[in-house]
Amino acid sequence: MRRRLAAGNWKMNGTAASLSEVEALLDAHVSPSVEILLCPPATLISAMAAVKGQHPLMIGGQDCHAEAKGAHTGDIAAAQLADAGATHVIVGHSERRTNHGETDETVAAKARAAHGAGLVAVICLGETLEEREGGRTLEVVGRQLDASVPDGATGQNTVIAYEPVWAIGTGLTPTNGQIGEVHEFLRSRLSARFGAEAAHVRLLYGGSVKPSNAAEIFGIPDVDGALVGGASLKAADFSPIIEAL
Ligand code: G3H
Repeated sequence: MRRRLAAGNWKMNGTAASLSEVEALLDAHVSPSVEILLCPPATLISAMAAVKGQHPLMIGGQDCHAEAKGAHTGDIAAAQLADAGATHVIVGHSERRTNHGETDETVAAKARAAHGAGLVAVICLGETLEEREGGRTLEVVGRQLDASVPDGATGQNTVIAYEPVWAIGTGLTPTNGQIGEVHEFLRSRLSARFGAEAAHVRLLYGGSVKPSNAAEIFGIPDVDGALVGGASLKAADFSPIIEAL
């Protein structure tokens, strides 16, 4: 019912030379059986769109402003991402929440802006190590889910990425049981709010996904794919993760 999704977040990495990795990825997955999304820095969206041509690879931004336009130096509107060739945008990544003070309300406003521009919002949430160790994981992700996902979210316009902050870029991953517990909780919380539509919303896991652990993570119920950081930068790493889906 839900098509699996392999999403790569290049974060603040990559220049035009990195597009050779995209070419290699496209060569390896001419007709992918899963959806593939790459979120490069905004500077590369247009060029990546040109490289992909007719390939079903999807392209996303890493953030957008909540407003449609105006005096916001350095920011990018959702419609501008769409204009450059994006179909998706990540909002609420923990690095944005931490480094830029984004609150759940900010994230929800950005997701609404994304929807308004016709983009799929990839809404990120996840607990810190302190919250995990304090036994507050479900409380935290529940609050983030409720407040970061706007009304009107559907399986068509929204993807949720569960990314424990302590697992991002650290090589640490939760146990399968811990991932499964959170995903099951998120699905049930979405169901309580959105009814049957919740069954169409894809739940990605993110945090130190790599070729060696991808298959195991994708075997966990309610994991519909991954949001991959470091291992999405090189086709040689991202390709086996796609194949594991
Ligand atoms: O957006 C991606 C996540 O932050 C995961 O990053 O795969 O480098 O741990 P990572």
